[in-house]
Amino acid sequence: MNETVGAKPTVFLRDYRPPAWCVGTIELEIDLDADATVVTARTTLQQALPGVELRFDLAALELLEVRIDGRVLAAAEYRLDETSLAIPGVHDGAIVQTCVRIAPARNSAMQGLYLSGTREHGFLLTQCEAEGFRHITPFLDRSDVLARYTVTLRAERARYPLLLANGDADGAGDLGDGRHWARFVDPHPKPSYLFALVAGRFESIEDHFVTAEGRAVRLLIHAEADAIGRCGWAMQCLKLAMRWDEQRFGRCYDLDAFHIVATHDFTMGAMENKGLNIFNAKYLLADPASATDDDHRHVLAVIGHEYFHNWSGNRVTCRDWFQLCLKEGLTVYREQEFESDVASRTLRRIEDVRLLWRAQFSEDAGPLAHPVRPDRYSEINNFYTATVYEKGAEIARMLGVVLGRDGFRRGLDLYFERHDGTAATVEDLLAALGDANERDLSAWLAWYAQAGTPVLHARGHHDPRRRCYELTLRQHTPATPGQPYKQPVPIPVAVALYGADGAAQRLRLDGEAGSDACERVLVLGAESATFRFVDIESSPVASLLRGYSAPVRLVQDSTAEELAALACHDDDGFNRWFAADTLARRLFAQAHAEGEPDAHLLSLWTRCLGAMLDERELDPALAAEMLTVADSASLADSLVDVDPEAVHQARARIETALASALEARLLARYRALHGDGGSIDSRAQARRRLRNTCLAALCRADVRHRVLAQAHYAGAHNLTDRLAALGVLLSVRDAGVDAALEGFARHHAGEPLVLDKWFSLQATEADPRACDRVATLLAHRAFRWTNPNNVFALLGAFALRNPRAFHRADGNGYRLVADAILKLDAITPQVAARLATAFGAWRRHEPLRRALMHRELDRMRARERISPDLADILARSLAAE
Ligand code: BES
Ligand code: ZN
Repeated sequence: MNETVGAKPTVFLRDYRPPAWCVGTIELEIDLDADATVVTARTTLQQALPGVELRFDLAALELLEVRIDGRVLAAAEYRLDETSLAIPGVHDGAIVQTCVRIAPARNSAMQGLYLSGTREHGFLLTQCEAEGFRHITPFLDRSDVLARYTVTLRAERARYPLLLANGDADGAGDLGDGRHWARFVDPHPKPSYLFALVAGRFESIEDHFVTAEGRAVRLLIHAEADAIGRCGWAMQCLKLAMRWDEQRFGRCYDLDAFHIVATHDFTMGAMENKGLNIFNAKYLLADPASATDDDHRHVLAVIGHEYFHNWSGNRVTCRDWFQLCLKEGLTVYREQEFESDVASRTLRRIEDVRLLWRAQFSEDAGPLAHPVRPDRYSEINNFYTATVYEKGAEIARMLGVVLGRDGFRRGLDLYFERHDGTAATVEDLLAALGDANERDLSAWLAWYAQAGTPVLHARGHHDPRRRCYELTLRQHTPATPGQPYKQPVPIPVAVALYGADGAAQRLRLDGEAGSDACERVLVLGAESATFRFVDIESSPVASLLRGYSAPVRLVQDSTAEELAALACHDDDGFNRWFAADTLARRLFAQAHAEGEPDAHLLSLWTRCLGAMLDERELDPALAAEMLTVADSASLADSLVDVDPEAVHQARARIETALASALEARLLARYRALHGDGGSIDSRAQARRRLRNTCLAALCRADVRHRVLAQAHYAGAHNLTDRLAALGVLLSVRDAGVDAALEGFARHHAGEPLVLDKWFSLQATEADPRACDRVATLLAHRAFRWTNPNNVFALLGAFALRNPRAFHRADGNGYRLVADAILKLDAITPQVAARLATAFGAWRRHEPLRRALMHRELDRMRARERISPDLADILARSLAAE
């Protein structure tokens, strides 16, 4: 249950002060028990700023005792309130000891120490980022206080045979009364948010890795007995990640063991605790029968992500939570590069850009917009956003593009060397990247400080007489809440120019020496600039923002023919997709405004995609992506007075037109792609992706193709194909779909992760009736309100990924979700707050929906006792523009 009620006070970046007290060492003794755990903490304190009294943070714990240098304090010698413990009489060098009692089994908020599963069969674990450690013991719970940890755990041996904490094992033994103990010493100083412990009954798999520095490392993955057989893929991914970070960034692992533990009860995806990562089971367990191809790639990415934090986050951590992007944005970028190097670069880039557009651009265009480095927050848990993560990663990527691969590596090397073992800032990162390359990167701070998505206008002009091509770039960032005026940001624009013969031209800017390069990166540093390329014979087709070199909205005056040429021939796979997507958006805009798309444009688009389907050498995954029209949320994002039903109809019209025009080719390709079995190599995954895309399109073109879907479902050898077919049967409302859904649930009973997909599939059916289905499924025996995976699979999918049903004109979708949010707020406030972001875009909708959404926001806010997490989202969503 949440203890604090109402909004928390706002914290400002400009108010940052270095800690007045530092901690040398902390010795924790933890007597574990699901109902009453007793935590004793002995800290050695150093006074950094004379005259400031010691004040520990705390939350939801029962204080039993306080000592200074061994002497028990009387109650009058300290002050205790809901959030802090102030001890005036502490001197420099003192040893402060506190003893508290906490109740893990009652901790449904999942911050601090809590129980996963049941008292009888469950286990105990922690989640401390961002401010969970204060739920375990009173402490200076801020990321710039780094300490050396020694942790002794004691617990009943039968129930909790495995005891783990960060660092190296340093002894274990029996206590005689059915209890046992284990001690851990972490040699690396760390902030409290990286603390972790796990206690329970697990099965383990073990492997080993020898680092480039020669350290032999034990790798262990621990899971409950029924899950251990699905941990092999994660272990392979871990070894790939460790090698990759050595080769690409020179980063080696630094302890003798690396542990990963899986849980089904976790509010987030995974957590990078030092040497003891904790994973949501959905990002760890994978085999072809119970996880899709996408799941396998997500495991690879998340394993990489948390592992890479060992340097970008743990060895060099964040000074304060305003610098969150310093670890998260950078680590997402490192993770993207990892997957790009070991799997498919183009596919990963397309997926990242789709996510950026859907989640970040829309966040940036609404009341929850904030800079990548916010300048204030009330509840920090609400700032683990698409902006901090995805736009933060885009900034790192842009710096990678302008500094080049080697320059970026040199810069990061310097950053890690300078700041190892300390807490750093965004300025520190830019300074290191700049110093290592003898460049001043201070202009890049604007990307971190300014919210809103820049619009980049590009206009090209060819002068046949002077044989030159002039490209004029102009930028503008629209106002966001609290930031009416914007300054220009540096925008790297990767460019290629294709000549009349279809070949990329050599690029030489006026006044430069010649070179052989056919692609180059222009940087627009001011509001506008013109770049003149010389020796350009005929009017070229410009391929701009190649690889999506900057997170901006590109507005270009290119003709449909030029876009079609790029969609067919650009040698940057990403830009082929980008051009096809731009064509589809133009078609959508026409269908939305006029009811019908332009026939000429439509035939250009379908001919181009048809030709692509015949290209034998093309990566099937890229073909599948090019055939997939952008989702409704992303198509709606440049509209005002959005009517999601109208958006859905217009989108469906162009999707169907494409499927009908290509029906014969789709069928031929569908048939040619059969028979991959269960292999999960990239090639097999790509073929399945295209085959399943063809199947969905075929059934859109002609519902009689449902027989293919029925056979596809019956003959599927892996979860990817099975779920894809089930989704198609659902979308055509096949007569047998209810029986198939029933059968699927029966077959996978007892597999919560698979049932979550089953929930999501039904929650995202693009039909208003999905709302009723979700309402019914809330009572399903596999759905538990206390399990965040269940909640996100059913309610999150519905509210955030099914605009047609969530925005039903009768308001039932809104009511269903608002009721759920209020119920969840009393259980897991973080989860309730994340669901509530679904109402953020209320002002961008047409008047009826706007009023209905507004009413639900008001209703939620009027509820007494709401958590700070939810209160913060509601207040910002409703704030005057
Ligand atoms: N440090 C975060 C996990 C976290 C987030 C803890 C918020 C507490 C509050 C972790 O490194 C992370 O970013 N996890 C992501 C997955 C990742 C692959 C982007 C997550 O949990 O969604
Ligand atoms: Zn992270």
